[in-house]
Amino acid sequence: MSEKLVLNENFGKHSGKTLKMLISEKRIKARIKELGSQISNNYRDVGSPLIVIGILNGSFIFMSDLVRDINIDLEVDFMRIASYGNATSSSGTVRMIKDINADITNRHVLVVEDIVDTGLSMNFLKNRLEQASTKSLEFAALIMKENTKIDFDMDYVGFEIPDKYVVGYGLDLAQKLRNLKSIYYLE
Ligand code: IMP
Repeated sequence: MSEKLVLNENFGKHSGKTLKMLISEKRIKARIKELGSQISNNYRDVGSPLIVIGILNGSFIFMSDLVRDINIDLEVDFMRIASYGNATSSSGTVRMIKDINADITNRHVLVVEDIVDTGLSMNFLKNRLEQASTKSLEFAALIMKENTKIDFDMDYVGFEIPDKYVVGYGLDLAQKLRNLKSIYYLE
């Protein structure tokens, strides 16, 4: 897709930057609808409400769209972890900044991440949540980069992309640009 966005003065220090669209708002919405119905079907008969755990900050927009495309009983909770400072490359360590509030023992749990890059965060989350004796544990991500290395299969992936740094739809550059409706890479 060749559509470009030149950020205007409302985007402060990022203004003047050219962003190239990778995934349009329309494609994102359509794919999330598919994921939502797949998830609804998979959990329809499990007998207890699903608990969906969003990983802050990046997943907040994906999570809010995804849960509205799931049509079975569910609860939400959030965890916050950090693996990047303000840079565009991984710091190599993952820290938990906010844990979930809910007791997930014996619950069906779906973890919702924005993007999987190195896989460090996903591995951290899996190790942490596996200790909680859940009834089931699945992982969803809107985006997975091509050369991600995780030692397990993701259950739901929206899009696989080349190894580029992307922004928009919740994804940030130095905490900014999360409010763009489509997903872009910096040209
Ligand atoms: P990982 O631990 O290297 O897989 O990185 C996961 C986290 O890094 C994601 O949850 C994002 O918060 C952030 N991240 C990785 N790649 C990107 C990107 O291309 N744009 C914005 N954030 C990213």
